[in-house]
Order: sequence, then structure tokens, then C-alpha cells
Amino acid sequence: MQISFVAPSNAASREGAWVVGAVEGATLLPGAQAADKASGGALTRALKYSRFTGKSGQMLEVLAPAGLKASRLLLVGLGKADAADEKGLETLGAQIVGRLYTSGETAANIEIDVPSAGKKSGKVKKAELAAHLAFGAKLKSYAFDKYRTRNLDEYEKKLKTIRIVTPDPAAAKKAHAGLAAVADGIFLARDLVNEPPNVLYPAEFARRAKAQLSKLGVKVEILGEAEMKKQGFGALLGVGQGSARESQLVVMQWKGGKKDAKPVALVGKGVCFDSGGLSIKVGAGMQGMKGDMAGAACVTGTLLALAMRKAKVNAVGVIGLVENMPDGGALRPDDVLTSLSGQTIEVLNTDAEGRLVLADALTYTQRRFKPRMLIDLATLTGAIVQTLGTEHAGIFSNDDHLVQRVQAAGRTTGERVWQLPLDPFYDKMIRSKIADMKNIGGGNSGAITAAQFLLRFIEKGTVWAHLDIAGVAWQDGEHKPTIPSWGTGWGVRLLNRLVKEHYEQ
Ligand code: BES
Ligand code: MN
Ligand code: ZN
Repeated sequence: MQISFVAPSNAASREGAWVVGAVEGATLLPGAQAADKASGGALTRALKYSRFTGKSGQMLEVLAPAGLKASRLLLVGLGKADAADEKGLETLGAQIVGRLYTSGETAANIEIDVPSAGKKSGKVKKAELAAHLAFGAKLKSYAFDKYRTRNLDEYEKKLKTIRIVTPDPAAAKKAHAGLAAVADGIFLARDLVNEPPNVLYPAEFARRAKAQLSKLGVKVEILGEAEMKKQGFGALLGVGQGSARESQLVVMQWKGGKKDAKPVALVGKGVCFDSGGLSIKVGAGMQGMKGDMAGAACVTGTLLALAMRKAKVNAVGVIGLVENMPDGGALRPDDVLTSLSGQTIEVLNTDAEGRLVLADALTYTQRRFKPRMLIDLATLTGAIVQTLGTEHAGIFSNDDHLVQRVQAAGRTTGERVWQLPLDPFYDKMIRSKIADMKNIGGGNSGAITAAQFLLRFIEKGTVWAHLDIAGVAWQDGEHKPTIPSWGTGWGVRLLNRLVKEHYEQ
């Protein structure tokens, strides 16, 4: 989809859809007034016969308006006059695009004079809001249709060109550049999650990460099984040992900050398929487990976004890529593994594999990079889905200040997190009879005992947070206009925002 910003004076031709706005009370904004006038009052007349009141999300379409070049007028509701914010404009952009996809329209001029409120003065704020409108439109344009071979025209998205009318197009374009990078990061993450597991196995994931990121100046290293064995990645390799596919560790470094500044580190769980291993999942529980690498996908997408927008930060992404399968060489319940940290783990359930992968990835990241802050992301437990459902990811941390920062970034981006406790009480639940710890807690508070397990691999002084994203990484059906069915790309927006607000020079 091609998106551009134009000044009101350049909007003259207005071919395709002419999209204009109204606020509550069905009060037409200036663009809508102009459209109404040019069409001899088509909007005013149509309003009389509709339930449109200007509430956010409402739409009113007038086809083939007399006297206009435009194929249609689309009046959209913005809600309360002073309520416009980034997230709201993103939703609006996505709603407009969704509507025009249904209509089969090919081009649109969006002329919505967002009433600007808040601290920033009119023009700046308007440019930013226009950029967020474009961002929402772009997010809606995502599709994963590469495996369809029939009835392609049914799926084709005909809307190809969007022109957004705004008082300062240059400023809007500038504000949009950073968001376009984020959209690309989100799309990469969605693609990785949506790919089937016969196509996207660990080596293929690693290959794609390297291909996509190295051309943007990210240094990408790939460690295979021989190298990891030499270094002692006993926990991660244990998970992969029942698979015909080779396990991989991918290390991605973006150096946009000061030369010796400690990096921000992101660590991701990359289980390309989670069958459960010998503790095999039941059929229904195994469905969707191609998405068990969503943490790794988010880390990869975030690095892409940071590199594309040339973020002034040093950032490293480390992802552990494995396939959890039950062949004759597979990890057994009762096995004891020695992790890279030296700590031993009694494996009592091979389906609690994510924490084993993360354990070694966390140790490696801390030892090699001494990060100023470390966040891991993982589709770690079914228990977090039971607890928080699909609206919040769980956050666990040893640093309340970091939690507050992530929560704030979550509120502005709409990728929200909810804090759950860590406590020695829960740590006791993972004590083993024969090793340093066991990999399941037994029964209750499963998301917390999983986080306690990870905490055992956090070294003194590391500022750390763990995000359990099992409930938000993928979804059946569309629930929000900016997020499609299946792979959501959750976390790229959140982490990009967090870095931008607090860790860039
Ligand atoms: N990948 C799963 C967690 C998961 C479940 C993600 C549902 C998304 C949706 C994880 O590896 C797992 O199997 N966890 C087990 C842990 C248990 C064996 C202690 C679980 O949650 O049941
Ligand atoms: Mn599992
Ligand atoms: Zn898993």
C-alpha cells in the first residue's frame, strides 16, 4: 500500500474515495463541510436518513456523489471533539482501510482535520496524528496469503493508494518514517509466527533473520549445535535433541548508540514447534504450536524496526531456536540437564521446555553483553492465558522501575502488560529432590513458577523483566482493526516505544 501526505491545496482532484470526519453530535469537520458543499449537501441529506452521530467507529458512505469526481464520500466518526490520541487515530486508519477493502475501492484521499488537543501546539500534533493514522492504515494492510492458490481475487486487497491531507505534509512524513519501520518490524514478526512449522524450522528462522537484518547493518551470528555443545548449552540442546532439525542460537547486534555504551538486551523463546516432546500434548493442545516462537519473532521484528529507523541505541537480540519433538533420542521426563550457568535441572515434564531454552539464552546474554537492561519474551505458559486472557501479557521483574516503564509504553501503544508477583514462596515450588531445581512447579500458579525458574538464571545486578506472551502472540479471528487474525506481532510496538522513550540518546 502506498501512503503519502499532501497539503489541503493539493487535494483538488480527489478521485477515489473522499474520506472526511465528524465528531459527536454529527458535527462535520472542515473537510466534511467542504465535501458536503461540493456535493450540493449530499452528506447533510444522508445524515437525515442514518443513525450516524459521530461516535468513534461510525461510518456513513455516499456512493457516486453528484457533481464530484470522487467515487464515494466516506464520513467517519471521531468521537468526542478533544479525544483524539495516537492509538485512536491508528484504529481509525485501520477502520477506514477495512471499510474500503470491503467496498473494493482502489484509492482514497483522507481529509480528516483532527481537532488537536493536549500540550503540543496544533501543527506538530496534527502531523504526528496524521502519521499515526497512516500507521493504522498500514497495519490493516497486512495479509498472509502466500499459501493460497485458488480464488485469489476474493482475497485481493484492491485499495493501493492513500493520500492523507494534512497542514504540514513534510512534518507528517518525517513522523511517519519511524512508524513505517515499526510496521515493517511487526510484519516480519507476524510472518514468522504465521509460517507453518514444516517451512519455518530453526535453521530457516535463523537464515531469515540474517537475510533481513544484516542488510540493515545488524550484525547477525548463528551458533549451531556443535558450537553450543562446546560452550555447554545443556538445557537448550536438551529440548532440541528429539528433533530431526538442528537447534540454533541467533545473536543480533544493532550498534546505533555510543561506542562503549552497554546494550539493551532482548531474549526470545523460539520453539518453532512445541509438540510437548515425550510429555506429548493432546491433539487440540498441539494446534497452533507453530506460534511458540513468537517471543523470538518479536525480538527479531524489534531489531528490524530499530535498525530501519536507525535508533540511537545499542541493542542486542538473542533467540533460542529449537523444535520440541519426541523421537528416540528425545529428552525424557526424569532426565537431569546441566545448563550453561552450571545449575542442574531435573526435567519432570518435557512440555515445560521454553524455560529450558531461555535459561541458557539468558546466561549467554548476560555473560557476553552485561546488558543495562534485559527483557525476555516467551509464549511460556497456558496458565498466563487462564489468568489474563488475551488483553494483557504478564510481566514479572526484579525492578519496579522497569515495570513502570513497560506499563507506560503499553498504555500508549495498546500492548498492555499486567504485573504478577515473584516471591521466595513460589521459588520453593521448583526445588528438586535430586538436582538444583525441577522444571515444573506442580499444580498451581504455573505462570509464576515459570518466571521463578527464569529468575534463577538472572545474575546479580541484571535489571530484568520477563513477559509471558502466550495469550497475546496469536489469536483466532480479528478483535481489533489494527491486529489481524493469527500472528499479532505483539511486542514490537511496545519494545520500540520503550527504547525510544528511555534508552535512546
Ligand atoms: N508453549 C507452551 C505454552 C502455551 C500454551 C503457549 C498455550 C500458548 C498457548 C509451553 O511450552 C507449555 O507447554 N507449557 C506448559 C507448562 C506445564 C507443562 C508446566 C503449560 O502451560 O501447560
Ligand atoms: Mn511446551
Ligand atoms: Zn512451548
